[in-house]
Amino acid sequence: MRRPLLAGNWKMHTTVMDACHLAAEIGKCSAGLDDRDVLLAPPYTVLSEVAHVLQGSAVLIASQNVCWEEKGAFTGEISPTMVKSAGGSAAIIGHSERRHIFHEDNEMINRRVHGALSFGLIPILCIGETLEEREDGKTLTVLEEQVRKGLAAVSREDMERSVVAYEPVWAIGTGKTASKEQAQEAHAFVRNLLTEMYEKNVAESARILYGGSVKPDNVDELMAQADIDGALVGGAALDAESFCRIINFT
Ligand code: 13P
Repeated sequence: MRRPLLAGNWKMHTTVMDACHLAAEIGKCSAGLDDRDVLLAPPYTVLSEVAHVLQGSAVLIASQNVCWEEKGAFTGEISPTMVKSAGGSAAIIGHSERRHIFHEDNEMINRRVHGALSFGLIPILCIGETLEEREDGKTLTVLEEQVRKGLAAVSREDMERSVVAYEPVWAIGTGKTASKEQAQEAHAFVRNLLTEMYEKNVAESARILYGGSVKPDNVDELMAQADIDGALVGGAALDAESFCRIINFT
């Protein structure tokens, strides 16, 4: 049995005050949910404040990206040890906004995955096709390339700690969720691919999250799909009431 993981990606939102308030609300409504994991990925500027507010709760903290180096002349980057020292235990890597707005490629994303793993952070590797790629019938080819290159040289032991998030680019922030059939097809494809790359029990225990306009009114049907093990939520994670409903999916 895979333990569900419900993650909120706050992207470039929240001041220190907003973040502390939102984290406190989420801390309250996640108390006692012991059959699932809840994770928040706040902006770097509030990682330690959010971790402080959630001290003593089971909510996990992630950064929204991470560098492969521990320290040095890498202006604008954050290192795995910085994330850990701020209270983080995971890092989102290869988010579509990093790929498309900031031109991060599969090779750089793979370096970030190794950076996270070598310092003990759980990488959440994001993959997903654009609308054009879907319409051209290239969805599965794109996903395969992103998974193979993103996880290149990741060992079996490291894969056991890693998470994949399927986020179709056309569903992010658009209000257009992938249908449960479209999402399930992509998730099953990724799991089969992980079986080929590793072995069946590694693939069977890997958590694959869905992201892209997850809301209180579609979370239950998405989570009911056989290969959907959690959600990576953007917009609806910024509203305590919505996110609390999402983490309490049935
Ligand atoms: P939305 O939930 O706003 O579509 O964002 C999804 C996302 O990009 C999470 O990482």
